[in-house]
Amino acid sequence: MDDKLKFLEQRREIILQGGGEKRIEDQHKKGKQTARERLVQFLDPGSFVEVGTFVQDDLKDASTLDIPLPGEGVVTGYGTVDGRLIYVFAQDFTVSGGSLGEYHAMKICRVMDLAAQNGAPCIGINDSGGARIQEGVGSLDGYGNIFYRNTVNSGVIPQISVIMGPSAGGAVYSPALTDFIFMVDNTSYMFITGPQVIKAVTGEDVSAGKLGGAATHNEVSGVAHFRAATEEECFVKLRRLLSFLPSNNFDDAPAAPPAEPALPEADLATLVPDDANKPYDVVEVIKRVVDDSDFFQVQEHYAKNAVVGFARLNGQTVGIIANQAKFLAGCLDINCSDKIARFVRFCDCFNIPLLTFVDVPGYLPGVHQEYGGIIRHGAKILYAYSEATVPQISVILRKAYGGAYIAMNCRALGADYVFAWPTAEIAVMGPEGAINIINRRDIEKAENPAEERKKKVEEYRQRFANPYISAARGWVDEVINPIDTRTHLIRAFDSLKGKVQDRPRKKHGNFPV
Ligand code: HXC
Repeated sequence: MDDKLKFLEQRREIILQGGGEKRIEDQHKKGKQTARERLVQFLDPGSFVEVGTFVQDDLKDASTLDIPLPGEGVVTGYGTVDGRLIYVFAQDFTVSGGSLGEYHAMKICRVMDLAAQNGAPCIGINDSGGARIQEGVGSLDGYGNIFYRNTVNSGVIPQISVIMGPSAGGAVYSPALTDFIFMVDNTSYMFITGPQVIKAVTGEDVSAGKLGGAATHNEVSGVAHFRAATEEECFVKLRRLLSFLPSNNFDDAPAAPPAEPALPEADLATLVPDDANKPYDVVEVIKRVVDDSDFFQVQEHYAKNAVVGFARLNGQTVGIIANQAKFLAGCLDINCSDKIARFVRFCDCFNIPLLTFVDVPGYLPGVHQEYGGIIRHGAKILYAYSEATVPQISVILRKAYGGAYIAMNCRALGADYVFAWPTAEIAVMGPEGAINIINRRDIEKAENPAEERKKKVEEYRQRFANPYISAARGWVDEVINPIDTRTHLIRAFDSLKGKVQDRPRKKHGNFPV
C-alpha cells in the first residue's frame, strides 16, 4: 500500500507542476500566472477541488510516471466564491501552450455539464494557443462540443470567460457564446486571424495588442465587457460581478443588507439641467438612488451613450439601463442598441429586475447608421424589453422622444410602472424639430420669422413637452419628485415580487440579430 500511495503522490506532484519549472518561469516573465496560481487567487482560500486530475490522452503511459502532457493542459474542478459553488476550468499555457486537444476539451465539457446539472456558474480562464495542431480534427470536435454546451447552458447558468493570454482562431467563439468576457491589459488578446495572416491577406500592419487586446475589445469592438490592469484586479472584478448574480435561472440573486445611498438623494433636485440640451452624467443620478451608491458598470468603455450595469435597491440586485446625455446626447445608435439588448436579455434570463432611466432624444440620424443597419440593431432593444418578463420599472428623467421613447421600455413594451420627473418631455419629437414640420408655413409667412419660430417652439413646449399628457392617459403611472425616486422604486419593486407573466407556447422567438 505504501508504494502505491507513494506512486499516487508522485504522479499527482508531476501533474501539479504542469509544464515544469522553466515554462512556469517563462509564464511569470510574461506577467502571467499559472493556471493553478490563478485558481488560488480567484476562489475562496482552500476551496478548490480538482476533477479529472489524471485525465490523459496517451494511454500507453497512463500508469507510469512519464506524463507527456500533465493535466492535458487544463485544470478543471469546482470551488467557492463568497461561499457559493462555482465550476471552473483554467487552461495551462505551460503545457503545450494550453492548446486544446480532444481530452482537454473533454475535461472542460465535464465541468460545464456538472455546472449546468448543479445550477452553478461556470467560469473559464482562457490562456491557449488554440486547437492542438498535432491532434487535428479531434481538437476541432472538442471545440464543437464546447460551443454546443455554451449554447445549451445559455440562460441556465451564468457563463463567464476570463481571457488571460492568447485566444485565437475559432477558439474565440466559446468566450463569445458566454455571458461576459473579462480581459487583462497587455497580456490577453482575441482575434480570428492574427497580425501575420492579416498582413499577408490585406496588407494591413497591426500589432497583436492593437488588433485584439483588452482596450480594443472593450472600447472598439464591444466583444469584451470588463477590462483590468492586472490578473489580480481582474479576479476582484469577477468576484464582484458574481456577487450580483444568481447561481442559475431558478434562483434569485443573493440579497445583501440594505444600505442607503452614500451620496445625497437631495442632489437629484438639481443634477439634471432643466435645459434639455445641456449634458450631465447619468451615473451620478444612478449613484444617488442605489444602495451604497455602488453601481457596477458592464461594458463601461463601449457605446458610452448608454450605461448598463448592476446595483442593489434595498439589498436586491437590479439591472440598470440608462441613456447617457453626455455622449451623443444619449441618442440610441447601433452599438448601444446591441449593448442594451444583450444586457436586458441577460437580466431577464436570470430573474434580475430591470430599472431604466430615460433621457433620449431619439435614434441617431446618419447615413453611416442607416447603412450599418440601425433598423435591424435598434429592433433588438424593442425585442429584448418586450420579451422580458422580470419586474420592470422606467423613470423618465427628461427627454423621451419618438421611437426611442418606446424603445426605452415604455408601458406598452412591458414596463410594469413608469415614473416621470416633472422635467420629463414625452412627445413624438423635440420642439425645434416639430415646429420645422408643423409650423413651417406660418414661420415663412411671418413678419419676423425668428420671433415666430421662438413663439411656436415655446407653445409646443408648453403643450406637449411635459409628462402630464402621458400621465393623463395612464402611460406614466406617477409624476414624482426626483428626491423621492429611491422610495418610489423600492416600494414598486416590492409590489412586483410575485409577478408572473405568461407567454404563448413556442420553441423560441426569432430575435433580430
Ligand atoms: C500545439 C502549441 C500550440 C498549438 C502553442 N503551442 N500553440 N502546440 N498546438 N496550437 C506550443 C508551442 O509549440 C510551444 O511548445 C508552447 O506551446 C508555447 O508556445 P510558444 O510559441 O513558445 O509561446 P509564445 O511565444 O508565447 O506564442 C504563443 C502563441 C504561439 C502566439 C499562441 O504559440 C502560436 O502562434 N501558436 C499557434 C496559434 C495557432 O495558430 N493556433 C491554431 C489556431 S486555429 P514548447 O514545447 O516549445 O513549449 C484554431 C482552430 C480552432 O484554433 C477552431 C475552433 C472552431
